[in-house]
Amino acid sequence: MSNYRLILIYLIGIFFNIGCVSESSDKLFPSNDAEARVIFDEQLSTILNTKCLSCHNFHSEGSSRYDSFDKTKSAISNIIKRINATDNAIMPPLGEAVLTTVEKQVFENFLNILNSEPDVNAEASKCTIFWTAYKYQNFDTRVGVSGTFDEVFYNLNNNAEKTIDLLANANIIINTASVNIDDKEGVRTTNVKSAFFAFLEPTITGKVIEYNEKEAVVALSLNGINKQMVFEVTEKADQILLKGKIEDLGFFKWDQAFDELNKVCGEFHENKLWPDIDIKVSISRKE
Ligand code: HEC
Repeated sequence: MSNYRLILIYLIGIFFNIGCVSESSDKLFPSNDAEARVIFDEQLSTILNTKCLSCHNFHSEGSSRYDSFDKTKSAISNIIKRINATDNAIMPPLGEAVLTTVEKQVFENFLNILNSEPDVNAEASKCTIFWTAYKYQNFDTRVGVSGTFDEVFYNLNNNAEKTIDLLANANIIINTASVNIDDKEGVRTTNVKSAFFAFLEPTITGKVIEYNEKEAVVALSLNGINKQMVFEVTEKADQILLKGKIEDLGFFKWDQAFDELNKVCGEFHENKLWPDIDIKVSISRKE
């Protein structure tokens, strides 16, 4: 490919991207990792290997090197636009091997699954916490790393008639050493447990102060520091979903934990961990 053509394609790419940024912030950083990882390992990585990596390999700029789950995830909205482009912006570029309809669908499935709510096994647990932290220098392509805690002790208002009233005086204690990132090798889980949570108070507690169909106010104690947090409430048949965000972990004095984690795996984060954490709590009735 000539340089001129590359530059042209590049300019069209920029134009195209600017014209298309209209997603809700919710969807900009999708993070249902566990299931998406399966699609990546079993289907998507093969397609990337055969049709993209000849160009998007280690010669590429960091953010367009689609050789890992994280890099692909961080670029997926952009990738979907480019594989569906109807002009010169199309990927793979004109003249290269084209993607089949089925292969395109795999990219779409990957995004859809990332955007879906984690599937909660109501039998196994009544109250499940999901958190998402963010890494990489550039806000627009930062990547969410999500996980849960396996050991949570909670009291729900089990006499409630309406599902929402499970929240009446509900409280929870989380053992942070039970953090679980659902990574195959368990390396991330170990790092976050021994290089991050080990440097904070060992439990996080929460108590519902008030709630209605729209929001719940929770008194949170993290690293021994108290703060009230407002969660958005969504009700489904037998399930309540609370969504909230800790805007700045700095408030909870995470500095030492942050430094220790950076020592262990900073190089995998471009030495950047964002101070905000998304939290989802799923509460469901056990029949
Ligand atoms: C023959 C080489 C080649 C192949 C094969 C190729 N690309 Fe590209 N791609 C490029 C070049 C060069 C650019 C930078 C210029 C541009 O944006 O068009 C690019 C840019 C992109 C961008 C925009 C990057 C950004 O940071 O804005 C995306 C997304 C993309 N490609 C996705 C893909 C996907 C997905 C595949 C495989 C299905 C693929 N490409 C296959 C050469 C290739």
